[in-house]
Amino acid sequence: MPTVDVPIYPRPFFCAVLKTLPPLMITPASRILGTGHYLPSIVRTNLDLERMVETSDEWIRERTGIRERRIAPEGIVTSDMATAAAKSALEAAELKPSDIDMILVGTVTPDMPMPATAVYVQQKLGAGSCPAMDLSAACAGFIFGLSIADQFIRSGTMKNILVIGVELLSRVVNWEDRTTCVLFGDGAGAVILGPAGGATTTDGKPRGVLSTKIQSDGALAQSLMIPGGGSVTPMSLEALELKRHKVHMKGQDIFKVAVKNLYSATKEALDLTGMTADQVDWICPHQANLRIIDFAATRLGVPKEKVLINIDRVGNTSSASIPILLDESIRSGKVHAGDTVAMCALGAGISWGGAIIRL
Ligand code: ACO
Repeated sequence: MPTVDVPIYPRPFFCAVLKTLPPLMITPASRILGTGHYLPSIVRTNLDLERMVETSDEWIRERTGIRERRIAPEGIVTSDMATAAAKSALEAAELKPSDIDMILVGTVTPDMPMPATAVYVQQKLGAGSCPAMDLSAACAGFIFGLSIADQFIRSGTMKNILVIGVELLSRVVNWEDRTTCVLFGDGAGAVILGPAGGATTTDGKPRGVLSTKIQSDGALAQSLMIPGGGSVTPMSLEALELKRHKVHMKGQDIFKVAVKNLYSATKEALDLTGMTADQVDWICPHQANLRIIDFAATRLGVPKEKVLINIDRVGNTSSASIPILLDESIRSGKVHAGDTVAMCALGAGISWGGAIIRL
């Protein structure tokens, strides 16, 4: 068999070449066609929490940046919130439920363990018999969904994919545990991802998902969990009394890894595009803690004005946080078509990821 002499270039050589490629070399497969969100109307302020646990408005604001969060009223379930966000995204994309080829729902607070919340969304939307499934990647669930949807569109298998991040955390938070109950809120965000179709900005830059990078590290699985209700600790009276069905978190462990990994997730997603942090218009980070966001943004060298924030009003809505923030920012006129947005998230698992999109 004939042999071919292939020069073996050292890895740094390829990295150096990659960095010289202009962003125009990237051909996105998919693009966000519409966004939507839903926040329940009940507002629970820090002052409300002062009456429930030993805490203070000052402590919560200084340590987390949160002033208030939204709570879903009795009778509203996860799929209701997800459906409301999805309807709004469909309207923005000018599409019908029957145009959806797949439904992906990132959530750790499903309607029930089985079937998937995604099929209830499908039922409530009146979408056709497209595949519908849930993704469990906690706060990174939306980025995981976006990345998976992008691959399906890239392969040509699917056209329009509904990606939702939704959480009803108020039902799984221990309202007697001040170390967790002050952090979380309820809500849903959704995007419709469709073919990029060669769309460009007015100055000729390609619009769409420019890169995604998703990762998990099971070594830290015990840092954040709802330990009961599965095969390890099936639901029982004893498990309920021990509050095994509620959120258990080692806050400082998560804090340390979040600071490090939010930075690396964004940096790695940027590296895949050949762009640097100063070339993005906005950072749209998961809203877990204002201090975590500030540390990561400082390390990236991104000024505060470029960092989108709503944690003060909605708290940590886990997988819903990025799509809610993105939709709010678009609808308020802050973020425009053609803007480049870097998204990054970290949550239980631990799972984390970054995505660079041009709207
Ligand atoms: N009010 C008043 N005091 C409190 C409260 C509260 N709500 N909560 C804790 N404290 C006390 C602690 O008991 C401790 O007191 P001590 O010094 O007497 O022991 C003191 O405040 C300091 O506690 P720390 O845990 O050191 O506080 P820290 O500054 O680390 O803030 C926090 C805690 C906000 C939880 C932070 O660690 C954090 O944000 N961690 C990350 C959480 C996160 O990002 N989760 C994301 C994933 S969520 C998901 O995937 C679903």
